[in-house]
Amino acid sequence: MPYKIPLFDLNFGQEEEEAVLDVIRSRWISAGPKTQEFENNFKNLLNSKHALAVSNCTVALHLALKLVGVREGDEVICPSLTFVATCNSIKYLNAIPVFADIKSLEEPLINELEIENKITSKTKAIIVMHYAGFPCNMDKIMALARKYNIKVIEDACHAPLSEYKGEKLGTIGDIGCFSFFSNKNISTGEGGMLITNNSEYFEKAKLLRSHGMTTMSFERAKGHSTAYDVVDLGFNYRIDDIRSSIGVVQLRNLKKDLTQRKKVRSIYIKKLTSIKNIIIPFEHHDELSSNYVFPIVIKNINAEKRNNLRDLLAKKGIQTSVHYPAVHKFSIYKEFYSELPFTDQYEQQMITLPMYSRLKESEISYIAKELKSLL
Ligand SMILES: Cc1ncc(COP(=O)(O)O)c(C=O)c1O
Repeated sequence: MPYKIPLFDLNFGQEEEEAVLDVIRSRWISAGPKTQEFENNFKNLLNSKHALAVSNCTVALHLALKLVGVREGDEVICPSLTFVATCNSIKYLNAIPVFADIKSLEEPLINELEIENKITSKTKAIIVMHYAGFPCNMDKIMALARKYNIKVIEDACHAPLSEYKGEKLGTIGDIGCFSFFSNKNISTGEGGMLITNNSEYFEKAKLLRSHGMTTMSFERAKGHSTAYDVVDLGFNYRIDDIRSSIGVVQLRNLKKDLTQRKKVRSIYIKKLTSIKNIIIPFEHHDELSSNYVFPIVIKNINAEKRNNLRDLLAKKGIQTSVHYPAVHKFSIYKEFYSELPFTDQYEQQMITLPMYSRLKESEISYIAKELKSLL
């Protein structure tokens, strides 16, 4: 059923179309000059020393954990309130995901007190996830990392350009990972970026991205080198220039898009505050945020009633979602189960409402009106 108001709407226009055509006409479509341009622009915009474009964020997370030295049997602390890929990346290395609860329904971000309680001699890394584009408490998390000699990976899929005390998310921990899946703030269809200030990590990541080979096809085609060695067991985690060319345009227009999303958020807040039985997470947050999604929490509701409410909204033409079903309850995570009361409550009571830059005030009014009358 096509929704009157979808959850997300792609902001592609003529610029993206022309960028793709240019690459096709250039006759070089795999990773090459456009990918380099995308990486350079990304690192400059975020103030990071290095950026490496890859095929998606899942592989960026896999590489990140490998780079910081996570191995079989190591423990990695992570949220359960995240997309499953965050935690799958830990399992790829036969390491152990240790789930930490969120702070509250108002602030559904990994709780640093929980992190400290779950640190053991086996803890090698922490993955934080800046949910909906809002920052985890990076001061406290980095202090813990220093105290216990643990690496920090930021899953910043939701948070390109979001800030924490003036610093861009993804640049505070050891490595930051981003996704360009089609519903993300920056969309290339599939795509990802790994950023770091650590040159050793970057050089190793570059090798691992492309089979552990010492040169890439593009360099050989340009005559910069004619041979290669294979010095590590790498992967094919490359992006291509067609996608990167879209990324360059999306990145150029990101600030404008986020300004628009900020307006959408403030209209939502104005229209929803009169509804007594909802919580708007991060309601008073005032730093720059990507506003990737717009979650709300319904007070005193259970999952069944919440699902009914979603069905009724769907009948009114409003698409909603749940970000996210908790990972620790998925079948393949049963052996890593842990009691996470706030995560449990949040996943049962939350609804994600439509959020994109072209969402109109009249549409937000309609959503708010329908929600109010259904509640
Ligand atoms: C928080 C989070 N982590 C990881 C991923 C995985 O990203 P990708 O689909 O680019 O592999 C996503 C994307 O859906 C995400 O939202």
